Amino acid sequence: FEKIPLNLTVNNKAYKTSVEPRITLLDYLREELHLMGTKKGCDHGQCGACTVHVNGERVNSCLSLAVMNEGKKITTIEGLANGEELHPMQAAFIKHDGFQCGYCTPGQVMSAVACVKEGHTNSRAEISEYMSGNICRCGAYPNIVDAIVEVSK
Ligand code: FES
Repeated sequence: FEKIPLNLTVNNKAYKTSVEPRITLLDYLREELHLMGTKKGCDHGQCGACTVHVNGERVNSCLSLAVMNEGKKITTIEGLANGEELHPMQAAFIKHDGFQCGYCTPGQVMSAVACVKEGHTNSRAEISEYMSGNICRCGAYPNIVDAIVEVSK
C-alpha cells in the first residue's frame, strides 16, 4: 500500500508522518509510536480495551483508521498523568482496587475520565451504562464504579 501523509498530536507531541491507509489508530499507537498502554483485546469494537480520547472524546481506537485522525489531538493512558503525579482517576482506581489482571484498565480509565467529563455520574446505574462498552473479565465492575463515584464528587 502507498503511504498517506498524517499529521497528528499524541499526548501533546506533534507527529508528522505517513502511514498505510489500512493501519488502525490502535496499531499506529502501539506499533509505530510504541505506546503500549493502549491494549488490543478484540480488535473489532467489542471490548473497550483500546479506548483513547480523540479531541477529548472517547473512541475505540481499533475502529478508527489512523488516517482518519489528520489534525486531531489524541490522548492515551500514557498522557493522562501530570509528570510523576497520577491523574485523579488513576489514583482512584488504585485506591478502590478497580482492577485485577489490569489488561482492561487503560481503556477503563480513559472511559472513566470521559464519563466524569461528560457528566454521566448521576447514579451508579448511569455510570455502569456509560461504562458498558468496557469489558472486564475479572469482574472488577463495582470497584470501578466506586472509583468513578469518588472522582465525580
Ligand atoms: Fe478495540 Fe476491543 S480492541 S474494542
